Amino acid sequence: VKYKDFTLAPWPCNEENPGKHLQLLKEFDSWNSDIMLCTSPKSGTHWLHEIIYMLSRQTTEYCPQSLFTTHMDMMGDFDSLESQSEPRILHTHLPFSFLPTKHVENGRKIVFVNRNPKDRHVSLYNFLLGKMGVPEDYSWNDYFDEMVLHDTLYKGWFNYTKEFLEAVDKNPTNIIHLLYEDILKNPTKELTRLAEFLEIPKIENLVAGVVDKCSFNKLKENKVMPFRVKGKPSSLFRKGKIGDWKNWFTVTQNEQFDAIYRNEMKNVNISFSYE
Ligand code: A3P
Repeated sequence: VKYKDFTLAPWPCNEENPGKHLQLLKEFDSWNSDIMLCTSPKSGTHWLHEIIYMLSRQTTEYCPQSLFTTHMDMMGDFDSLESQSEPRILHTHLPFSFLPTKHVENGRKIVFVNRNPKDRHVSLYNFLLGKMGVPEDYSWNDYFDEMVLHDTLYKGWFNYTKEFLEAVDKNPTNIIHLLYEDILKNPTKELTRLAEFLEIPKIENLVAGVVDKCSFNKLKENKVMPFRVKGKPSSLFRKGKIGDWKNWFTVTQNEQFDAIYRNEMKNVNISFSYE
């Protein structure tokens, strides 16, 4: 759905009146205990949702419901959130400047997860095939030209990343910045950091259990997810690896993307791991 100079997912609330939806979200009064999970699509949202659920409840049981019950981007109103148990894990793909003002101003917790943009694009391309109006035979080259070179989804990944990094600099205590690749390479370290941020007591055994239960294979096997086609594993758990982009980007596409990256990110202090 086109709105101003950007694109939103085609959820009914956006199709009906994106401006109203965005305004309601901005005005939403969260609870002090709410944890806002902020990601650009395909950066590991469902993975982190499960991890935050387990850490915050001090359990290693899977969350009985899907992230979609607290996915604010999909909701026409937020009434159903009233019956969720604390701490609620509220999710949005919207950039920092669209977050509920009261959540930000009152210093409530925000978990910001990012992923190297090449793998993220490959993941998004594979996810979109046959969904949300994208034909099953949509080619990677068309995706690259239309959605990598002209990335307007939620205002685009570069804008998303820059807005959040600036916010992290300004609010270092209530926003934690996690990287997909770091969690995959060093899950115990990153989950300990997250558990401390969430102020969870007695974390040692808990973190070990959560690392195990939230591994790619176990999540893929155990978690019944939306978008699940009968008899097929969920498309939300595809490969779970770093570096799949090398199987998709041509040499030219890679050079094109690197040039855009250098230009967009020239004053930004962040580095991603691509393998
Ligand atoms: P791939 O398509 O590269 O496999 P989101 O939840 O934001 O839609 O992100 C989906 C991506 O996160 C998919 O990437 C998925 O496989 C990956 N993912 C989910 N759980 C994971 C886990 N436990 N470990 C590593 N990657 C995971």
